[in-house]
Amino acid sequence: MKTTVSIIKADVGGWPGHSTMHPALMDEAKKELEKAKKAGVITDFHVTYCGDDLELILAHNKGVDNKEVHTLAWNTFKAATEVAKSLKLYGAGQDLLSDAFSGNIKGMGPGVAELEFEERKSEPIICFLMDKTDPGAFNLPIYKMFADPFNTAGLVIDPSMHAGFVFEVYDVYENKKKTLSVPEELYDLLAIIGNKSKYIIKRIYPKKGGKVPETEAVACVSTDKLSLIAGEYVGKDDPVAIVRCQSGLPAVGEAIEPFTFPHLVSGWMRGSHVGPLMPVGLADATPSRFDGPTRVVALGFQVANGKLIGPVDMFKDKAYDNARQKANKIADYMRRHGPFEPHRLPAEDMEYTTLPKVLTKLKDRFKQI
Ligand code: 13P
Ligand code: 13P
Ligand code: MG
Ligand code: MG
Repeated sequence: MKTTVSIIKADVGGWPGHSTMHPALMDEAKKELEKAKKAGVITDFHVTYCGDDLELILAHNKGVDNKEVHTLAWNTFKAATEVAKSLKLYGAGQDLLSDAFSGNIKGMGPGVAELEFEERKSEPIICFLMDKTDPGAFNLPIYKMFADPFNTAGLVIDPSMHAGFVFEVYDVYENKKKTLSVPEELYDLLAIIGNKSKYIIKRIYPKKGGKVPETEAVACVSTDKLSLIAGEYVGKDDPVAIVRCQSGLPAVGEAIEPFTFPHLVSGWMRGSHVGPLMPVGLADATPSRFDGPTRVVALGFQVANGKLIGPVDMFKDKAYDNARQKANKIADYMRRHGPFEPHRLPAEDMEYTTLPKVLTKLKDRFKQI
C-alpha cells in the first residue's frame, strides 16, 4: 500500500501579533488529529509550528488531494481558530478565506504540500517549514538540491542520480505549468525560476532508470499564494515543502546544505520587504525583529509503514551558526534602507499590499511637467 505524507498549514492566530504560536492552538490540533488517527483517517501525525503558522504533518494512505484528509485539516484549523478567538490572538482564522469549504483545501487559504509514494526499504524525508515569506523562497534551495553539482555531490558521483531530475514549474499568475529536464534544460530553468514571484518550482520527479519510479514525485512545495487568492494583502503565503532523500535522491545532508546560504527572499514585515532566510532550530522559529527576519525549520523523519519516526530538528545543528550570523548581518544591512527599495519590495510586488491605497490618495496631487 502506498503512503502519503501531507503538510497542511495555516495561520489561525499569532501570539503576539505575527510572531509565534500559542501552545493552546497546537493542543487543540493534537486533540482533533488523535481522534482522526483512532478513527483510521490518518496513520500518524505531527503537530508543530513555524512562527505564527500551525503546521499539520499527516501520514495516511489516501493519496494526494484527498477529501477526507483535507476536510480533517480544515476542521482542525476551524477548531484551533475558536481557541485563538477566545484568547483574542492576532488575526484569528486569518488564512481560512471562505466559509464555503467543499472538500479540497487548495485555494481556500491554507498551504498544502503532499507526496504519495511506495515506501522504500528506508524512507528518510525532510519537512521544510518557512514563516514570513512566499513559495518562491524555495526556488533557490530546491534548485541547488536537485540540479547543482557544487551542492549535491551525488549528481556527479552517484550513478543513480547522474541523469538528473525533472522540474515541474508553476506560473502562479497565469495558472499554467511546465516541466523542464535538467541538466539538458538547465539554463531555460534558471531563466524562469530566477523570477521567483511568478515562477515557482512545484514538484521534482526522478528520471527513468533511477532507483525511484519516474512517476513518483520526490519533492513538493506548497505554491498557494494568499494574495492571489484573496485579491488583497491578508498575510504572506508562508510556504512548506517535503523532500524525500537518499538512495538515488539527494542525501539528507545534501537536502539541507543549500540553507547554509541565507539568500534574500520576499516577506518579513507586512510581507513587503526583502531580507535573509535564516535557518533555525524549532525553539528559534519565533520571528520578532521587524516581524522577522524570515525563518526556515527542517524536520527530519523516517517514514515506516505509515508512521512518522521523528522529528529530528536538523537546523539546530551548530554547523548552521555561521548562516544565522550571516543572516543577522544581512538583516542589519537591509534594515538600514528603511522604506527604500530594494529593502522594500519592487512596485509590482507591492500591488497586493496596502500601499496602493496610499498612492491613490496622492494621485490627484501630481501635475503635468
Ligand atoms: P545513499 O546512496 O544511500 O543515498 O548514501 C549516500 C550517502 O549517505 C551520502 O552521505
Ligand atoms: P504572517 O504572514 O506570518 O501572518 O505575517 C504577516 C505580517 O504582516 C508580518 O509583519
Ligand atoms: Mg500572521
Ligand atoms: Mg506566518
